[in-house]
Amino acid sequence: MMPNTSWFCILLVVCVSDAAGFDTETEFIYNGFAGSNLQLDGSAYITQEGILSLTTASSDITGHGFHPNPMFMEFQGMYANPSFSTTFVFSIAPDYSSRTGEGMAFVISPAADFAAAMPGGYLGLHSYRGNTFLAIELDTVANQEFKDIDDNHVGIDLNNLVSITSCSAGYSYQDNTGNIIQLTFEELRLSSGDPMQVWVDYDGGSMNLNVTLALVPMYKPSPPLLSYTVNLSTFLPQAYVGFSASTGDKRVAAHQILGWSFKLNGLAPPLNYSLLPLKREHQIQDAEKKKLIKWLPATLSSLAMVTGLTACFLLRCWCNRRRENQEDWESELGPRRFSYKILRAATNGFSSRHLLGKGGFGRVYAGVLDPSGLRIAVKRISSESSQGLAQFTAEILILGRLRHRNLVRLIGYCRHKDELLLVYEQMPNRSLDKYLHTIKTKNMLIWSQRLHIIKGVASGLLYLHEDWEQVIIHRDVKASNVLLDAEMNGRLGDFGLARLHDHCVDAHTTHVAGTMGYLAPELTRFGKATKATDVFAFGAFILEVACGRRPVGLNARGELLVLVEWVREVWEASGCIADAMDPRLEDYPATEAELVLKLGLLCSHPLPAARPGIRLVMQYLDGDMPLPAGISPDYFAITDVDDVFEMAPSLATTVTSLSGGR
Ligand SMILES: *[C@@H]1O[C@H](CO)[C@@H](O)[C@H](O)[C@H]1NC(C)=O
Ligand SMILES: *[C@@H]1O[C@H](CO)[C@@H](O)[C@H](O)[C@H]1NC(C)=O
Ligand SMILES: *[C@@H]1O[C@H](CO)[C@@H](O)[C@H](O)[C@H]1NC(C)=O
Ligand SMILES: *[C@@H]1O[C@H](CO)[C@@H](O)[C@H](O)[C@H]1NC(C)=O
Repeated sequence: MMPNTSWFCILLVVCVSDAAGFDTETEFIYNGFAGSNLQLDGSAYITQEGILSLTTASSDITGHGFHPNPMFMEFQGMYANPSFSTTFVFSIAPDYSSRTGEGMAFVISPAADFAAAMPGGYLGLHSYRGNTFLAIELDTVANQEFKDIDDNHVGIDLNNLVSITSCSAGYSYQDNTGNIIQLTFEELRLSSGDPMQVWVDYDGGSMNLNVTLALVPMYKPSPPLLSYTVNLSTFLPQAYVGFSASTGDKRVAAHQILGWSFKLNGLAPPLNYSLLPLKREHQIQDAEKKKLIKWLPATLSSLAMVTGLTACFLLRCWCNRRRENQEDWESELGPRRFSYKILRAATNGFSSRHLLGKGGFGRVYAGVLDPSGLRIAVKRISSESSQGLAQFTAEILILGRLRHRNLVRLIGYCRHKDELLLVYEQMPNRSLDKYLHTIKTKNMLIWSQRLHIIKGVASGLLYLHEDWEQVIIHRDVKASNVLLDAEMNGRLGDFGLARLHDHCVDAHTTHVAGTMGYLAPELTRFGKATKATDVFAFGAFILEVACGRRPVGLNARGELLVLVEWVREVWEASGCIADAMDPRLEDYPATEAELVLKLGLLCSHPLPAARPGIRLVMQYLDGDMPLPAGISPDYFAITDVDDVFEMAPSLATTVTSLSGGR
């Protein structure tokens, strides 16, 4: 049997010669730690899968793992304060009985000698001798002795566990939904068991130290979580780099490092997520295996051969059965897995009174989780292809990590027989289409609300397209998938779900996921969803919001009316595109209406190459960029790429920005 290649670690060491002729290491990368020769002590060990396990879920232990050679050597006497950058992926998975462990830290120290350091709140860093270190702590306990700000924070520590600066764990991102660019903070729970990534960057010149945190596999968020000016010259001339973690008496968690890279005077090389040992064995399984190993030899020696063989046979059956029940993806890290019982209780046995609606994939029920009182929406998806469902569930693990104020958050999931149940946060104001196509005037949205929702949806789509290591195509952007929270922010739901079709429809039907009127022409022809097909649907969506008409409908004479074409025709006929606006709207700035309508047409251009990328769409909406000059009704009827350039040379920027995307 071929061993899983991702279990092997790729260790890359770059050597440079300094003036004295010594080979000095300046850079390394561990995509998993199998075969590495880290300097370990305490409870630390490298698991079979290549994970650096600092502590297991046992009480009062410490563990350390350091890169074997000191770094920064070459700078002795040359630069007082070198620059460095490092990044690592960690996970903190508490024991079942405990909500958190104590915490862990990335450490730089002149001596990698922490074996005598204390467990518990000391994080394995502090001993009575006193240690010299710079630590980036990932602390999951509010310890008054160390003036901790809360029980879930990241801090910078210098020779002392009282942090010189700290901040609640999370990340910030720029939110362009208002007229001003504002920063939004998204909290992350360190001890969720989710793999998270930390970047530590230090610039020796400005003495600026930045620490950034994100979920795996997000791109590095900006700005950093912590930014601090600190003079590290006293201990950088020769220092070891590594990790420390500890557990307490009652606070027990597995603290693990999955990958790590480091570089002097440059950016740490990016980790390769597909090589990281993200598949982690369940702790219970581990414990059960250990029990078996103890028990098996004793049985065999004390019992007769026949009994032993029978035992083996029974054991094999038992193991096989367990294997069938426990699929691979279920032991991976990810969003919370609910039991069917809990979800049934939360929705009163999926009673019809709790039915919120019926979507393309199944029924959605409102529920309340006990005992937290959290309001949830449970989507029940049944499938004849349970294998396809199992494959799709692997993708849920990624979807469950997406967090953005313009996305409906996926909290967890449950698999029950041939059904998949997805648990989302509940949105109090339901879906946008109810407000757009209503006849009750009291539910009508005014223009500023509509524009705010359009900007929010663009921001959520930008996050899906560009903020993750893997591009997430929504595939079903439409008004009924835009839900409204209590503040009437638009939030995209059902992201990534259209992929279910790839896994679960049988091979004989060629069904394109998506909804009539929002489907790009090339999508119906070739069936391949791309960022440009999402942008097309977004264009149809914003026209729907501005015009208050469905993307496809029938006119008074019973003829099929496609909104995108209708807007173009209105513009051509009257010369004024604003004539297409929802007649029920009263006060709105003409410039904004024109912008949204023209942008809608641009996004829904028949040629994918003529559509702007979503980042550019945001810039148009925020007024940071004017719409390209030279667009006219004719421009939107072009179906040949070469004509785009001829008709409007100024549009070349739009075109290149799309083809240059990922
Ligand atoms: C730290 O972050 C700030 C703000 O984003 C940035 O200006 C600075 O260059 C960063 N410093 C380092 C060392 O990365
Ligand atoms: C940093 O600290 C070292 C040692 O204390 C000192 O010699 C150096 O001048 C300091 N650098 C700056 C820029 O303050
Ligand atoms: C990551 O590793 C995989 C498997 O070895 C390889 O195919 C892929 O090219 C690597 N990606 C990068 C960015 O190096
Ligand atoms: C949206 O929901 C909030 C909270 O439930 C409520 O106060 C508000 O009136 C709702 N807005 C609309 C337009 O229904």
